[in-house]
Amino acid sequence: MAADVYISGHPLIQHKLARLRAVDTKPPEFRDLIAAISRVLFFEATRDVALRPVAVTTPLAKVTCREIAEKIGLVPVLRAGLGMAEAMLQALPEAAVWHLGLYRDHATLKPVTYYNKLPPQPDMDTALVLDPMLATGGSAIAAIDILKKHGTPKVKFVGIIAAPEGRDELRAAHPDVPIYLAALDDRLNEIGYIVPGLGDAGDRQFGTA
Ligand code: PRP
Ligand code: URA
Repeated sequence: MAADVYISGHPLIQHKLARLRAVDTKPPEFRDLIAAISRVLFFEATRDVALRPVAVTTPLAKVTCREIAEKIGLVPVLRAGLGMAEAMLQALPEAAVWHLGLYRDHATLKPVTYYNKLPPQPDMDTALVLDPMLATGGSAIAAIDILKKHGTPKVKFVGIIAAPEGRDELRAAHPDVPIYLAALDDRLNEIGYIVPGLGDAGDRQFGTA
């Protein structure tokens, strides 16, 4: 059975998504919105992470609490995944960050890998691939191919907006990988952009439109 596709219906996410999509939202606010939405999705995507007991002394007593037992890797797909990784790193500073540089060739819409900063040995239990836009699915599939070849045991994909085409391609290529999203949009247009979408997520974060 294929892994789940989780689409958050949380009112705060929907509220922030409205501003994220708006054409007049400038890069500073756009980055804040990406961070706020990513933090909520991070909590959802780590809901099943293993815990272990840890002894803690409070000002009043000793108590057995729980701490995260897994090593978690954040894998931002450059450029647009960077803002997502930064927000998640604030929530879990112990996470490692593995950068993967992929861009979509404008003519073919196929992903081109230009940077790979995975460690020599796979030392993570779970890797979260981060990219706000799941359009044709080519970039996400290529990133997950790289992680699986590298030997990472468990991979999840966290995006913000997906097209049905990208969701279906990703599920077909990697049925074991759960997908976490803030929205599933209508379609891709003729040049591979998500409609209604938000435009180019990298350009809008970094002011390069
Ligand atoms: C965007 C986006 C994804 C990719 C999604 O990156 O951030 O990585 O397109 O499209 P796909 O699902 O069809 O592969 P882009 O290639 O524009 O690179 P950038 O982040 O450097 O601008
Ligand atoms: N990449 C983006 O940044 N936006 C889209 O709509 C599709 C791919």
